[in-house]
Amino acid sequence: MRTLIVALGERSYPIRIGSGFLRDVSLITPLLPQKRVAVVTNTTIAPLYLSGLRAALEAAGVAVVPVILPDGEQYKTWETLNLIFDALIEHRCERRTTLIALGGGVVGDMTGFAAATWQRGAPFIQMPTTLLAQVDSSVGGKTAINHPHGKNMIGAFYQPLAVCADLEPLQTLPLRELRAGLAEVIKHGLIRDAAFFEWLEANIDALLARDPAALEHAVVRSCEIKAAIVAEDERELEVRALLNFGHTFGHAIEAGLGYGDWLHGEAIGAGMIMAADLSRELGYLDAAEVARIQALIGRAGLPVTGPKLPRARYLEHMSVDKKTRDGATRFVVLERLGSARIQTGVAQAIVEGVLARRIA
Ligand code: NAD
Ligand code: GLY
Repeated sequence: MRTLIVALGERSYPIRIGSGFLRDVSLITPLLPQKRVAVVTNTTIAPLYLSGLRAALEAAGVAVVPVILPDGEQYKTWETLNLIFDALIEHRCERRTTLIALGGGVVGDMTGFAAATWQRGAPFIQMPTTLLAQVDSSVGGKTAINHPHGKNMIGAFYQPLAVCADLEPLQTLPLRELRAGLAEVIKHGLIRDAAFFEWLEANIDALLARDPAALEHAVVRSCEIKAAIVAEDERELEVRALLNFGHTFGHAIEAGLGYGDWLHGEAIGAGMIMAADLSRELGYLDAAEVARIQALIGRAGLPVTGPKLPRARYLEHMSVDKKTRDGATRFVVLERLGSARIQTGVAQAIVEGVLARRIA
């Protein structure tokens, strides 16, 4: 097992990366303020993993309230969030009842937001079961639901007590979801670590074949990068925005299509190529570097062009991006492979040029 720390003073917490956490809860039970938890999951993950986790918790004397949500990004809404609160009220859960998020980023983000607001703040633990959640969404305390016009628009920064990333469930993840998770792994190399990007070029096939050692390295290195950035800037005043590389375009794809058509990671795959093209237009990358980024994203099986939406729809959704400051859209661009920066004052014509070239 590997343990990393997200260093946030009194809100610091461990990220555990290993195997068997869904059967052996000895890492979790010491963290619980009360011998009672609500395990929030969904209709796909529950039949695979809920009974094992529940049995292990109950064997350790912990009472379990299961909360099973519908599965899908289109359910990342107020209505679904209320299902969590309904269950917590029905079962007389208290402020010290820990919420455990068992699932991917959708379950994790919604459970975290429920924990942030349930009785003004309950403890929660992330048990991510997708690659995307293990390398990105379970770490750093961003919790949210979507607004029909804006991705993750309503939420809170609220840190978990711990992240327990069990690599075993990655073996049952649909291939399309594994590919989506690789988008965020590639992002971490692009923004912070050129050597990791090169390692990904050499190991992308091993990752797609779910080689356990390759997956462990990808999760550990991604979490190291993300934990360091979050520790520097928890509330995204500046440097944390770099984790949004590809997301200004990607969120516009997701919102423009209506959530749940393209996966988040797929939208980020195409969005990163758009952002790399923008970086070239601004004079940072050369065409060969953009081609190299596109080649890796393509080998990961992710889309390399955006969907054919009206350009005005892209621009409209990009204008409600959360990085927008004083009405101006801000982009994350690469100044070189392994190093990112925030760019303001990008002329609309340049953005439109990128869209014209990069929409299928
Ligand atoms: P997801 O949560 O929808 O999970 C993907 C699919 O895989 C779902 O159908 C799920 O039921 C299924 N699944 C999960 N684990 C499985 C397993 N082990 N075996 C079989 N099936 C399994 O999608 P995701 O990609 O994990 O997360 C995407 C979400 O994460 C988006 O809503 C995005 O906005 C959010 N996100 C948040 C952050 C953050 O910092 N909070 C960062 C990145 C993404
Ligand atoms: N996924 C971007 C962030 O956590 O800041």
